[in-house]
Parts: sequence; C-alpha cells; structure tokens
Amino acid sequence: MAIEDLISPHGGKLKQKVIVEPDQTSGSVSLELTPRQFADLEMISIGAYSPLETFMNKSDYYSVIESMHLADGTLWPIPITFQIHSSQIDTTTTTIHLTRNFAHVATLEVDEVYKLDHELEASHIYGTTSVEHPGVKLLFSGGDLAVTGELMVHIVSGAYEGPEYLTPADTRGIFRGRNWKSVAAFQTRNPVHRAHEYLHKIALEIVDGLFLNPLVGQTKLDDVPVPVRMAAYSVLLEKYYPQNRTILGVYPAAMRYAGPQEAILHAISRKNYGCTHFIVGRDHAGVGNYYSTYAAQEIFETIVPEELGISILKFEHSYYCSVCCQVASKRTCPHGPESHISLSGTRVRELLANGEDLPPEFSRPEVAAILRLAYQK
Ligand code: ADX
Repeated sequence: MAIEDLISPHGGKLKQKVIVEPDQTSGSVSLELTPRQFADLEMISIGAYSPLETFMNKSDYYSVIESMHLADGTLWPIPITFQIHSSQIDTTTTTIHLTRNFAHVATLEVDEVYKLDHELEASHIYGTTSVEHPGVKLLFSGGDLAVTGELMVHIVSGAYEGPEYLTPADTRGIFRGRNWKSVAAFQTRNPVHRAHEYLHKIALEIVDGLFLNPLVGQTKLDDVPVPVRMAAYSVLLEKYYPQNRTILGVYPAAMRYAGPQEAILHAISRKNYGCTHFIVGRDHAGVGNYYSTYAAQEIFETIVPEELGISILKFEHSYYCSVCCQVASKRTCPHGPESHISLSGTRVRELLANGEDLPPEFSRPEVAAILRLAYQK
C-alpha cells in the first residue's frame, strides 16, 4: 500500500518536530514542565496533535473556545496552551528552556504572551466552572498567562519506555506494512474489563485492525497506575486476541476529563496515528456526573464529518448479562438490570483495596490476578 493510501493526518500533513541541538541563549529562563505540559509537548513533538506545531497563540485560543476551530478554520476542540504564572517570566524573557526532571528537552522562542480567560475556557470546554472538576481545577491553578512562539524540540523522552511506545509515524508504518485499510482506535485510562473487550471485538468484526491505545500521560491520582494497566492489557492480548489483527501502543497525552470535547480531540489525534475509526462508548473521558452518558457521542452529530475525517463507532453501555451468559447491551439483550453485572471504577478499586477478587463476568481471571497483585503491595 502506498503512503498516500492511508488516512490523511488532521490538517493534511503529519507535523512531527525535527529534533535539534539545544543552544544557550541570552534572555532565557528555564521552566520545569508540569506533567500536563510535558504530555502536551510530547504530543506536539510526535505529530499526534497535528496540525499543531507549537502551543496555541491568542487567536487560536479564543477561536477554539468560541467556535471549536483554529483561527485558520481547522476543527479543534480543546485549547493546547503553555500556561504559566506571571511570576515565571518577565518582559525581558525572549527564550524559555523547557526542562523535564531538569534536563533541557525543548526551547520556546517567545513570540506572544497573553492572558487566559479561565472562566470562559472552563464553561465552554468543560461545561462547568466548578473546581471540583479535575480539569477545571488544573486550569484555575495553572497560571493566568499563556506563552507561545517557535518550539524547538531537543529530546522526545517519553513518559513511557517500552516496545509499546509507538509514534504516529510508527503506527502508520505498521498499518501500511500489514495492509490494513481500516483501523479502529480504542482510548482508555482504566484497567481493561470485559465490556471494553466486547467493544474491541465488535470493532474487529468491522475493521481490518484494532489499535489499543491506552492513555499513559497524567491522570487523576486515584486512577490505576500505568504499568499495572499495561500489564493487564498485555496478558489479555496474548490470551484472548488475534495477534495479527491487534496492536498495543501507548497514547502519551494527559487526561483533561473534558468529556465530549475531549472525545473529539481523542478522535482527531487517533486519525493522526493512521486510524480510520474511533470507538466512543458511554461517558467517554468523563468524570463524576458532569456529562450525560452519551454526551460524548451526541457532540459528533454537531460536526461536519468531512472536517472530522475519522468515523466514530458508537457503543451503548455494555454489561455482563447473567441470563444471556455474555456481555451485551440493551440493543442486544432484553433482560432487566437485576441480571446485569456492571462495576464502576470506584467499586473495582474498593474490591481491590479489600483484597477481594473481581468477578469473572467483569474481568478476565488473568487481568484480575494482575490487578489484585498490584493492590496487595
Ligand atoms: S476514558 O476516560 O478513557 O473514556 P475508560 O477507560 O473507562 O475511560 O473508557 C474507555 C472507552 O470505553 C470509552 O470510549 C468509554 O466510553 C468506553 N466504555 C467503558 N466502559 C464501557 C461500558 N461498560 N459500556 C460501553 N462503553 C464503555
């Protein structure tokens, strides 16, 4: 298959950053990146946030908030800004050395410094200004200014090390090599369970390949740690999935918990990885009760499909039905809630914390064993 036969990246071209040597410049300050900033930098660097080549300027920032498009008209749902406190720079700052664990990983040539509108951003992007919301909390506490300018990347030292670290260029190469014409991407931040598996397997009935793409950037503190989730995925894939039709690769982004708006960002970035389809189930990228169960599906009805450029595979809430003896949803199962086994993330964490087993209807035994071990430590 020729390169051009794969789905086009968002905006038409994969904007992967070229790695350049750092330069010591006058007028510079060093800033240690927060986990969110580091994740955003990484996503821009590897081309996963194409067409972004740097953090957003003021005109893109307001355009995204008010119209869900970049200033040039490209669909984009969430501001990707380099947010700072006014105390971190002054008017003489022309260059910012971005460090991670105090290693110089990138340089930002300051072109524009502008004020953020926290209230406006929170209400439009998160649908709430409550600081109980983890994404809003980070926004309100992260500083009143944003900086942008040319971004030079020196090291792409991912938050994740291992064979599952695949950039969009890597996955595009793999998909091409396997001659996959259609690939469904799956986003997740949680330990894999059987309802997830149900979604994956239905997708596999429809497309050539499945790209399991767990998010490994910053999450809420009570979410399950990345190594545990990855171990669970690896064992599940090995035991229950067709090896030649499934790829596991990490998604280095941070969670924003912006529900519907984040679902669009998730879809667009998976297009950059070369995927043609994106799975959206119930309460995608949600937290607490901020978004209705299917809000992240409904938002796609408001978007021009050609602008999105990736097909959305929508799934109903799925559960194990003890009468059907299989995972099902109300589209396929006529039985009442008394026969449904469906655990919340909170309940799963409770069971694990108490050293109890997850029921086999909820979790494959191999996955349950990994989770139990991790929580015993
Ligand atoms: S998310 O924050 O990454 O969306 P999670 O890992 O729980 O959280 O979900 C990953 C994907 O699976 C999302 O598209 C979500 O909507 C979907 N999903 C999770 N559990 C179910 C379920 N029981 N039924 C249907 N879809 C689900």
